[in-house]
Amino acid sequence: MQQPFNVLPRAAMAGELVPADYFRRMDRDGLCREGRPLEVDLGCGDGTFLMEMARHFPERDFLGVERLLGRARKVCRKLTRNHLENGRVLRLESRYTVEWLLPEASVSRLHLLCPDPWPKLRHHRRRVLQVEFLAAVRRVLVPGGELLFMTDHQEYFEWAGEKVAACGGFEQVAWPAEAFFYPTTDFQRQWEREGKAMWRLRWRTPSPAERPCDTVTCRT
Ligand SMILES: C[S@@+](CC[C@H](N)C(=O)[O-])C[C@H]1O[C@@H](n2cnc3c(N)ncnc32)[C@H](O)[C@@H]1O
Repeated sequence: MQQPFNVLPRAAMAGELVPADYFRRMDRDGLCREGRPLEVDLGCGDGTFLMEMARHFPERDFLGVERLLGRARKVCRKLTRNHLENGRVLRLESRYTVEWLLPEASVSRLHLLCPDPWPKLRHHRRRVLQVEFLAAVRRVLVPGGELLFMTDHQEYFEWAGEKVAACGGFEQVAWPAEAFFYPTTDFQRQWEREGKAMWRLRWRTPSPAERPCDTVTCRT
């Protein structure tokens, strides 16, 4: 019998978010619980950061996005074992998730931590952080929402600053060490152990009062 093309190939496991339709923007209701801020960790890896955040902020909801099935499953198991009901994992590609699945104004903070730097010039187009991606980030963030980026790769750090400037619509905000609770990620730990410096950038979208008239519904 012929199957419709968007039938799931497998059942969702505990702690996993499986969209009902991968070709349609999700509803906010399906993403997080009513009235709770949603934070998204793109490329969540082994879930160290996601788990710590979910534990520390039980009043917030967290979504890890990870393209590798094995890693995504492992994080689901850890969340379930630790009874962290405010954390879930979506096994999917980060750019696709932000550009096509997340609804507008649904995310309060988006974390892109130690993403693959793709150092060779001919591979730069594989980097997650691109102008089109940033335009989509701007759309999915709530007004006043934040994008937090951290890398050990200085050239990727500079590239990120340039792409955000080219995209526009973000304001850079300071990110002093220890300014707020922010757990060390698995890769960050490895690189700091090797003596590498971490480069951090934090941007915010304007809150409604700060937005110019053409970016909000501003009827006269
Ligand atoms: C270098 S690791 C960093 C993991 C974690 N953020 C940390 O700091 O420990 C990058 C992770 O992102 C995942 N990843 C890489 N590109 C991705 C993409 N385009 N979409 C989703 N996940 C991706 C990889 O599978 C890997 O788990």
